[in-house]
Amino acid sequence: MSNLLIENKGNTQVITINRPSKLNALNKATIQELSAAVTAADKDLTIKAIILTGSGEKAFVAGADISEFNTFEVEQAKELAKMGQDILFDLIEKCETPVIAAINGFALGGGLELAMSCHMRVASSNARMGLPEVSLGVIPGYGGTQRLAQLAGKGKAFELMFTAGMIKAEEALSCGLVNHVVEQDQLIEKCLEICEKMSKNSSVAIAAAIRAVNGGYKDGENGFETEINEFAKCFATGDFKEGTTAFLEKRKAIFPNN
Ligand code: COA
Repeated sequence: MSNLLIENKGNTQVITINRPSKLNALNKATIQELSAAVTAADKDLTIKAIILTGSGEKAFVAGADISEFNTFEVEQAKELAKMGQDILFDLIEKCETPVIAAINGFALGGGLELAMSCHMRVASSNARMGLPEVSLGVIPGYGGTQRLAQLAGKGKAFELMFTAGMIKAEEALSCGLVNHVVEQDQLIEKCLEICEKMSKNSSVAIAAAIRAVNGGYKDGENGFETEINEFAKCFATGDFKEGTTAFLEKRKAIFPNN
């Protein structure tokens, strides 16, 4: 995969978008490679978490690759947004392996949209985030209008989009856009620390929690009903039997599916 670097650290896979000369801008090939890499990692039962990051110290991802779509017409633009949402952004959101975005610099446009499709975000203190699409005469097309409003609230989302402004990591933390802010040299370590904590818990239950939370954001689905069904399905799993038995026997659970 020419635009990605993939490295396993224990049972976590770190996927690095590697186009530093273009600030890791998402061209079509990178989107396809990311889709294939996330699909493969999600299927691999030995991988318990995925970290997505950008190469270099300057950018996570500075957006969709503007040079690839500036001559597009309406139908091509529609296809571009739909393809991206289907094969990558929605795929990551639905991924049953937790995905953390390690935002190591600029996360703009499609870059912030990519980070927002992940289950969690950790930013380095130099990170800058925004959806500057209206400065190019367009709007976000990879789910940004929806996910920024979900994470930071409608008012903040409108302000960020209308002004095409960039916010610093601390401001992103205060509006709920990121979970943690750390120094750049601590970024992957902080993400790995979260992965380590998650890996002690039932991966089957974590996948159920992802489906339940996502259910609340899906048209035509009632998140509370999804939660009831996912809760009930856990009772048929070996992980539930082991987790509850271990608690009652006052020992640490050894989950059979981990
Ligand atoms: N698409 C395509 N190329 C991009 C890009 C993008 N979204 N973002 C950066 N690049 C390229 C630049 O064209 C430049 O390539 P070149 O050296 O071949 O000319 C290279 O990455 C470095 O970027 P540069 O603009 O020179 O760096 P900078 O430090 O001066 O500015 C940014 C950094 C992030 C402020 C600036 O690159 C930028 O505004 N990028 C676009 C952000 C954006 O609008 N994203 C939303 C897209 S929908």
